Amino acid sequence: MTLPGYDLNKIRSESLDEAARAASAEAVEAVRLKYLGRKDGLFTKLLQTLPSLAPAERKDVGRLANEAKRALEEALEGKTKFLEGEKLARTLSQGAEDLTLPGTPLARGGLHPLTKVQDEIVAIFQRLGFNVAEGPEVETDFHNFTALNHPPDHPARDAHDTFYLKSHKDETGLPFLLRTHTSPVQIRYMKTHKPPLSIVVPGRVFRHEAVDATHSYVFHQVEGLAVDEGISLADLKGALTLFARELFGAAARVRFRPSYFPFVEPGLEVDISCSFCGEKGCRLCKNSGWVEMLGAGLVHPNVLRGVGLDPDKVSGYAFGIGVERVAMFKYGVDDMRLFFENDLRFLRSLA
Ligand code: PHE
Repeated sequence: MTLPGYDLNKIRSESLDEAARAASAEAVEAVRLKYLGRKDGLFTKLLQTLPSLAPAERKDVGRLANEAKRALEEALEGKTKFLEGEKLARTLSQGAEDLTLPGTPLARGGLHPLTKVQDEIVAIFQRLGFNVAEGPEVETDFHNFTALNHPPDHPARDAHDTFYLKSHKDETGLPFLLRTHTSPVQIRYMKTHKPPLSIVVPGRVFRHEAVDATHSYVFHQVEGLAVDEGISLADLKGALTLFARELFGAAARVRFRPSYFPFVEPGLEVDISCSFCGEKGCRLCKNSGWVEMLGAGLVHPNVLRGVGLDPDKVSGYAFGIGVERVAMFKYGVDDMRLFFENDLRFLRSLA
């Protein structure tokens, strides 16, 4: 095909030859400019002459010219890749690292949702001036029960479904056990610190229970304890109301119901209004608008006396928050087992 001043076939084969001969990036660029340059490229100019041709010819010439142009573009691209590969091979043969290789991806870790919720609970009380204390998971019968006003044959012991370490006895001859609540840390702390004191105690606790959507043989609590002169239920309610608002928003409310724990008097169960449905009733609050999240009360005089404090001089409140319960509400999860199975798809969905 011949155009005035241009031999298309010749241009095509010459351009491809030149591309094949190009032995450096500069040479490739020179060929590109010569044929494809936006102003002076031969193909550019050639295509500019198309409008001067007869319509029938214009179509064929246009097609061939565009094909030739594309063939050259491909050839140049292939050449460029080839030259880069050669250059890399040369560099590597001189002993250099291949910095173009993709790195080994590192999976990024994150905090477990239960850890995050526990940290958040603790942080709220720290802002109120509480200190953080911890205690052992393997406990003595004395700290877990007796000092918490459960004398040896007290029926409330049965409610705890305790795991005993039968072959490991303490100095009183009783087997060690896995603590069934974080309350024994109240005793440990009061034995070593004088009032005024206020602490929160995050930790794992254990009960010999069958696992279902709302129970597990291991779970988490955050214990709270404040002891000073003149502490009353009003102080407890104030602290817990603030806690609920910080955790679930300004509309959150708390509700006290009478209950029984041997180490407090009076004993309370504390409900928090369901933030999930705004108290309208939903699957999470079982349509009641309220959720039980804590046990609480005023420290029993026997407990205070047991650690050498005079119940006529000081008083205190205590509470125990169920971390899993709080987490279920925060994340809208109605099966606690999800928090322990650690299926990454679930954990990532909460991140
Ligand atoms: N320790 C109690 C439990 O695990 C909760 C609680 C803590 C109750 C503090 C009252 C005061 O059930």
